[in-house]
Amino acid sequence: MYRLTDAQKARVKELLSQMTLEEKIGQMNQESVSIVGGFDVPFEELIEMMTDGRISQEEFEKIMSTAQQDYHEDDIRAGLVGSLMVQDPRKANELQKIAVEESRLGIPLMFGLDVIHGYRTVYPIAIAEAGTFDPDLFTRTARMAAKESRTQGVNWHFAPMLDVARDARWGRVSEGPGEDPYLVSQFAKAKIKGLQGDRTSPENYVAACLKHYVAYGACEAGRDYNTVSMAPSMLHNAYLPPFKAAVEAGAATAMASFNDLNGVPCTVNPYTLRHILKETWNFPGFVVSDANAIRECVNHGIAATEPDAGTHAANAGMDVDMGTQIYKKHLRAAVERGEVPLSVIDEAAERILSVKMWLGLFDHPYVPEEAMSRYEVLPEEHRALAREAAEKSIVLLKNEGNVLPLKKSQKISLVGQLAASREEIIGAWAMSWRESDCVSIKEGLERAGAQLQYYPCCGPETDINEEEVAAACQYGDVIVAVVGETDAMSGEAASRADITLPGHQRELLERLLASGKPVVACLMNGRPLALQWESQHVPAILECWHLGVEMGPAVANVLLGEKNPEGRLASSFPAVTGMCPIYYNHMNTGRPGGRSKFTSRYLDAGFEALYPFGHGLSYTTFAYDRLRVEEQPDALQITVDVTNTGTREGVETVQLYMQDVTASIVRPVKELRDFAKVSLSPGETKPITLTLQKSDMGYYNDAGEYVLEPGLFRLHVGGNSRDCLTTEVNITF
Ligand code: NOJ
Repeated sequence: MYRLTDAQKARVKELLSQMTLEEKIGQMNQESVSIVGGFDVPFEELIEMMTDGRISQEEFEKIMSTAQQDYHEDDIRAGLVGSLMVQDPRKANELQKIAVEESRLGIPLMFGLDVIHGYRTVYPIAIAEAGTFDPDLFTRTARMAAKESRTQGVNWHFAPMLDVARDARWGRVSEGPGEDPYLVSQFAKAKIKGLQGDRTSPENYVAACLKHYVAYGACEAGRDYNTVSMAPSMLHNAYLPPFKAAVEAGAATAMASFNDLNGVPCTVNPYTLRHILKETWNFPGFVVSDANAIRECVNHGIAATEPDAGTHAANAGMDVDMGTQIYKKHLRAAVERGEVPLSVIDEAAERILSVKMWLGLFDHPYVPEEAMSRYEVLPEEHRALAREAAEKSIVLLKNEGNVLPLKKSQKISLVGQLAASREEIIGAWAMSWRESDCVSIKEGLERAGAQLQYYPCCGPETDINEEEVAAACQYGDVIVAVVGETDAMSGEAASRADITLPGHQRELLERLLASGKPVVACLMNGRPLALQWESQHVPAILECWHLGVEMGPAVANVLLGEKNPEGRLASSFPAVTGMCPIYYNHMNTGRPGGRSKFTSRYLDAGFEALYPFGHGLSYTTFAYDRLRVEEQPDALQITVDVTNTGTREGVETVQLYMQDVTASIVRPVKELRDFAKVSLSPGETKPITLTLQKSDMGYYNDAGEYVLEPGLFRLHVGGNSRDCLTTEVNITF
């Protein structure tokens, strides 16, 4: 929980009273390390050369390694920098020393970084981890990341990302916990606890940063940075709740999103920043812009000049400028001209200093020398946690004829370039991993003692090697094809207009299937894919996502049956790309999708997701029976008997959905309200009770007011959002 003691608050006030206007604005300035030379073309052109392929990534990195860098030492000394993005602990200490010992007031710097799914120990991407439906796991992985990053000087994570995302074309669906506001909210609370909760030592926690505030996940057509138009009720019911939950859980900072919302970029949006976040929710922390976003307000066409953009942002409640120096260069004049009230600057500076105080930076500004190498070799405990998260994230989409699990006696033809890759298992937005820590799927299977031959055959971006395909079809009793996306195909600026398997991988599957041998498709990807063809032809499909350093052992354990899969989809999978955006918790229509032509459906794809939210099979099966509801004064207790009807122990995720049948505005057909995981032995039955608080049965109207309307509610309980037992209750509040 981010809260200051009275003594800390007094210390902040005292400091504030000594600061000049420039020093206060300095706290609002976040710098990145600037590249200032060492090569013959301007840095911007160098970036362009890499982006358009004139030079390779390796060539770029080689040039960068000799580049001259500017760490803004003089500005730090002058008190003109509040925070930086650095992840070298010695450099961080060096810069911190300048701030603490050489600046007039000795105010320490914050060091921020994108630590989205692990620091050194990379664990599954968020969309995968969310599918574990395991808040305790969310907390433990975040705590591990906090501790590891703090040994490298990073005390501020630009995470968790809480964008509800319903359009799989958007590359950033990989970074967030999926399409459901309730699940994303549980993820939010658990992550804040993990990042900020262990305050037994200043080395154990960091400041979290909620992002991207807000509605970035609804960017039109799934194209990154695109515009968002949205009714207030949708904003309040679907996109704001995770941020509200995270604020209530005590998050210390928030990042505004790049997109405009109903015509006003979130960087300069007084309604979302001031009215909702700071005034309605009483968010006590500070808000940072996304990278260069204040300058980009000129491109949005909401500000004529950069100084104008700075004025708009500051007045809207944007406390920190990431990367443009617009505050540093222009805010003082704007205050002097009376365009930005001094109170705005005072408030921002106080919020920033408070977070630094709470982080313990005034008393422990440096990374202790002995901490720097603490995770030089990854502790087995960290690997074990990454493996647990990876195993629990794997989703068995389909298993016709029980092709899986494989038997150790079976010879496996392992196919696909992704199968032997150590880099691609990491996924988007990981910055501090080492290849030597990563275990590929091939290595995982070899370590597990599988009998296999490996045939690269084809990758997401390469042609098919016919000879290798022929050999693969010859050797194995079973063929395991690892197909999917490279990690660069998801994440920021990685939207795709066609989300089928990229390149020639479908043809690869066709050829493998032609051998007549059983084929398992192991998917490695950062977004839901459109798998209509694969679902019709490939007998077993395992969704493995990008699972981090322990991906290999985790996938091997599931393939070989050491681990019974239990992961679920946190995002619906469309049959074809044209169904995007698709999500289970959509509004009803006057003509709900059905078999008749004149219903809300596609002529060529029907209306249902191929694999719905919450879906995930197991090597055993579960049955649901006897759904019953007990009404209490403040809550409904909903109980169902769940039986393991198969032959091995397994974990089921029992999900409770609600539908407000008739309301003053149209409400979703289903909304997740609670879930529980239960482990059952073969033949075992357990009653599982889920809770629905009556206070959670309402909704926000277009005025942003939360209303509870009495009437008929439908309750659905099942193992995914589609196949449920249903009952109805009449509720008066
Ligand atoms: C841009 C991204 O949108 C954001 O998620 C990230 O935290 C910042 N850049 C800083 O790297």
